[in-house]
Amino acid sequence: MQIRPTEWQGVYSDGSWLLTRNLNPGVSVYGESLHLEGGVEYRRWDVNRSKLAAYLKCGGRVWPYDDATSVLYLGGGNGTTVSHLSDICRQGTITAIEISPRAFRDLLKVSEARPNVLPILGDAAKPEMYGNRTSPASVLYQDIAQRDQAAIFRRNLGWLRPGGTGFLMIKARSEDVAANPVEVYEAAKRELMAAGVRILDRRVLAPYQTDHAVLVVKKP
Ligand SMILES: C[S@@+](CC[C@H](N)C(=O)[O-])C[C@H]1O[C@@H](n2cnc3c(N)ncnc32)[C@H](O)[C@@H]1O
Repeated sequence: MQIRPTEWQGVYSDGSWLLTRNLNPGVSVYGESLHLEGGVEYRRWDVNRSKLAAYLKCGGRVWPYDDATSVLYLGGGNGTTVSHLSDICRQGTITAIEISPRAFRDLLKVSEARPNVLPILGDAAKPEMYGNRTSPASVLYQDIAQRDQAAIFRRNLGWLRPGGTGFLMIKARSEDVAANPVEVYEAAKRELMAAGVRILDRRVLAPYQTDHAVLVVKKP
């Protein structure tokens, strides 16, 4: 089937799969397949490996990403989702904070051929440590799978521009293995509302990501 643009800027589909236009042609980041059509190379975006792709597949519609978007990304991991955002925000910047030196090595490799990716080895719980290397972004994205996810997101809201959008990917089991995931999501929602942001969307990411949900917020 033919690859066509979707309603989400920078995201394409061949009918069942999502794809992004490869900023680094010929190179696959995490084993995803590459597809050439009309002289343009696309990378398949795996919904089981990326919560942002799962968000779209689960009916998410808030899409603040375009060619020039600046993203502060907390928990860059090995660069899977970061690389797709780099395909989408081609003229923008993805500043990716990662605490694990091992994952950071992969992230660094991804950034070598992608000038819009700025990786920083650091702790998202201590935004004052990397604040001097970033400026307020138009999107704050967090996927750190550790305790106190909402509190850490809240601490980073100072690095989101007024009017900007935040995506908090919540892993329920990282907060409390015994808790009901829905209660974990609701507690995070209350905490963000208390921080003064407006909730735009709350979406469970099943069946692609078990016990995960996303909260999408707007900073006034
Ligand atoms: C679920 S993985 C990230 C996957 C990645 N977001 C993706 O979609 O490609 C979570 C990552 O967060 C990192 N992490 C956990 N706590 C962190 C913290 N306090 N600051 C920065 N990174 C953290 C972990 O080392 C891990 O690489």
